[in-house]
Amino acid sequence: MKLRYFLLSAIVAAAAHAATVRKSDFGKLADGTAVALFTLSNSKGMEASVTTYGGALVSLKTPDRKGKMGDVVLGYDNAADYQKGKSYFGALIGRYGNRIGHAQFTLDGKTYHVPKNDGDNSLHGGAVGFDKHVWTARELPDGALELQYVSKDGDQGYPGTLTATVTYTLTDDNVLRIRYQAATDKPTVLNLTNHSYFNLKGDGDILGHLVTLNADKYTPVDSGLIPTGELKPVDGTPFDFRKARTPGERINQNDEQLKLGKGYDHNWVLNRKGPGLSFAARVEEPGVSGRIMEIYTDQPGIQFYTGNFLDGSEKGKGGKVYQHRTGFCFETQHFPDSPNKPSFPSTVLRPGQKYDTTTEFRFSAK
Ligand code: GLA
Repeated sequence: MKLRYFLLSAIVAAAAHAATVRKSDFGKLADGTAVALFTLSNSKGMEASVTTYGGALVSLKTPDRKGKMGDVVLGYDNAADYQKGKSYFGALIGRYGNRIGHAQFTLDGKTYHVPKNDGDNSLHGGAVGFDKHVWTARELPDGALELQYVSKDGDQGYPGTLTATVTYTLTDDNVLRIRYQAATDKPTVLNLTNHSYFNLKGDGDILGHLVTLNADKYTPVDSGLIPTGELKPVDGTPFDFRKARTPGERINQNDEQLKLGKGYDHNWVLNRKGPGLSFAARVEEPGVSGRIMEIYTDQPGIQFYTGNFLDGSEKGKGGKVYQHRTGFCFETQHFPDSPNKPSFPSTVLRPGQKYDTTTEFRFSAK
């Protein structure tokens, strides 16, 4: 009797620690395909909603300093708007996050051509990247959401059939964890990330948020935003975020790299302490909300993009119009154009190898 009681209370306690998952309808794509929305909630009232379309994080409700929940990511209201969207709001990006120069690369002596969807370059996996597909969803027993997409051999010009599995977990200590796993049947290149635009205030521009980036170096770019190959010290430049600074403070400085990016749109080389998760970035909204987001990752780089291409032309959630720099991205990743830069950490994935990377977004307020 006692043992049964013990087991029962253990089960109840375990259940209390897992996020609960609610499934709802997120509308239809142009061809009638139904798309779902999964909402993960933890015991603190934090909520993360993810759609099967592009595996996008649609909303993320986190507490402010008074404990009031507010949505801190940009997005659209329904699947059809995501399908039309141009900005990759919250989406899973693949096969290759950020740019591949001249939309081609050579692997094992063979040259592969991928779509030119950004001038002469390929951006975010090509015209129909992982953000433009419906992923298969599965709720895991611990309350996590697993999404899977099988990219066929030759998809957007990339070799090998690649099975990508992404797991979103919301923990009881207000951490959103994203784990990316993949395997291929032919050598290929891979760089998966999430393209969430954050605004911890929930409104207005992001220029007054305090940003810390744990990086001594960044990768300067050419006019097509392709890294030159140099790892440049941030010391003495507007790219030094080793101590908390607002993007607004230096974004309009007369700096060649800031002009090329139309603001910040660069990859920082993260300072790492061996394998596993390392501190990458911290964002604090010191004004009305007091919200804080800390990012930990096992990836070598982070693309810090200040929403320079947002121009008020897209209608977002609840009819909101996203103006210039009203959201910023922290895309944990391998460096852009790595397939053409032998000196950068390799993005090659071979059959039998396991791609397995994790990024955590940890939320609090003060
Ligand atoms: C990345 C790129 C930017 C831009 C956005 C999407 O962050 O580096 O230049 O293309 O994605 O709009």
